[in-house]
Amino acid sequence: MKEDVAKDVTTGATTLPAPRTAAKDTPAEPLLVVDKLVKHFPIKGGFPVRRTVGAVQAVDGIDLTVHVGESFGLVGESGCGKSTTGRLITRLLEPTGGTISYRGRDISHASRKELAPVRSEIQMIFQDPYSSLNPRQTVGRIISAPMEINGINPAGGREKRVRELLEIVGLNPEHYNRFPHEFSGGQRQRIGVARALASEPKLIVADEPVSALDVSIQAQVVNLLQKVQRELGIAFLFIAHDLAVVRHFSQRVAVMYLGKVIEVGDRGSIYTRPRHPYTHALLSAVPEVELEESGKVRRERIRLAGDVPSPVSPPSGCRFRTRCWKAQDKCAQEEPPLVRLSGNREDHLTACHFPEDPTTEARDEDIVLDPALAALEDAAEDQ
Ligand SMILES: Nc1ncnc2c1ncn2[C@@H]1O[C@H](COP(=O)(O)OP(=O)(O)O)[C@@H](O)[C@H]1O
Ligand code: SF4
Ligand SMILES: [Mg+2]
Repeated sequence: MKEDVAKDVTTGATTLPAPRTAAKDTPAEPLLVVDKLVKHFPIKGGFPVRRTVGAVQAVDGIDLTVHVGESFGLVGESGCGKSTTGRLITRLLEPTGGTISYRGRDISHASRKELAPVRSEIQMIFQDPYSSLNPRQTVGRIISAPMEINGINPAGGREKRVRELLEIVGLNPEHYNRFPHEFSGGQRQRIGVARALASEPKLIVADEPVSALDVSIQAQVVNLLQKVQRELGIAFLFIAHDLAVVRHFSQRVAVMYLGKVIEVGDRGSIYTRPRHPYTHALLSAVPEVELEESGKVRRERIRLAGDVPSPVSPPSGCRFRTRCWKAQDKCAQEEPPLVRLSGNREDHLTACHFPEDPTTEARDEDIVLDPALAALEDAAEDQ
């Protein structure tokens, strides 16, 4: 199959060929359905006989649906279970419970052999572009490996396809024989994108793909991913630790906290009418400039007290309660269900007993939750 790869005169970048994947699928049928997914990592202890003494509840019953060609954002602080979720979906990890269905097929516990037909369709881009590429292999070999593994034989040969892919991701096709160390971080991440594209995926799980890059490079890589998503019709599960990156990229967003999804919805709804206190806190961390530029009311900053509690023994009831300024007794006793609240769109779900009002207006007072941090900042201002 000959690819129609044309040069974009303004940027020198390459225009992507027409979507290969979207047309074949029915948009109504979800690509990926994750139902009550659980991953507990056992903790071993004891002497002389080692026994299981507890478990890290990394992912604890999450539901997600990703549609064909959609970009879905998964956001939350470090340690909340995002990477584990990505690794479960790509089946690098075995789930403890729940199901993962890909195009209607339950792949939760599929064997290597059973997975073979879908393996090439679900790809992952990793956070660290330094460790995720084999330093001893040329770029050509790295990118053609998925074609070999999955028996993909493009017309014109694999080398020609690798050169096309290098061009698609904005790299020089002549660099086919170079090694990863000859490239910058941003370029390496582009190689990672080319490798993911080589097996003609329908879903890419991108695990914080720009977090390890210089801020100046991040936007370029996000733009490339966005181009890939839109022009090739590839669905993305885009994992990020803050809402700023996802804002530009994802049509729907889920916010995770300590192994649970605490709010999910359409981008517009999540950013302008967040209901969960934690989503408010994350949004208040989005740089103010960005909010002002987009004409939105400036939000006050909410500083979250302390760290995320340990996933070995998460708080009872609502897991966010130890850091929540609205917590009441009920929050310790009953886990809030993830439901649609009145005033919200049908697909906007929130897990909170005492949600925030559905408004974008800034509150009167700055909610300062971390007295130590506030004191430090005050001291710095006084100097
Ligand atoms: N292989 C593992 N064994 C034990 N604990 C793990 C393992 N992988 C992740 N965890 C723990 O699971 C929790 C979630 O980790 P992770 O999914 O990497 O979070 P995130 O990507 O959101 O930072 C963390 O507490 C982490 O320490
Ligand atoms: S359920 Fe309670 S503790 Fe949890 S976020 Fe809502 S108000 Fe806060
Ligand atoms: Mg992670």
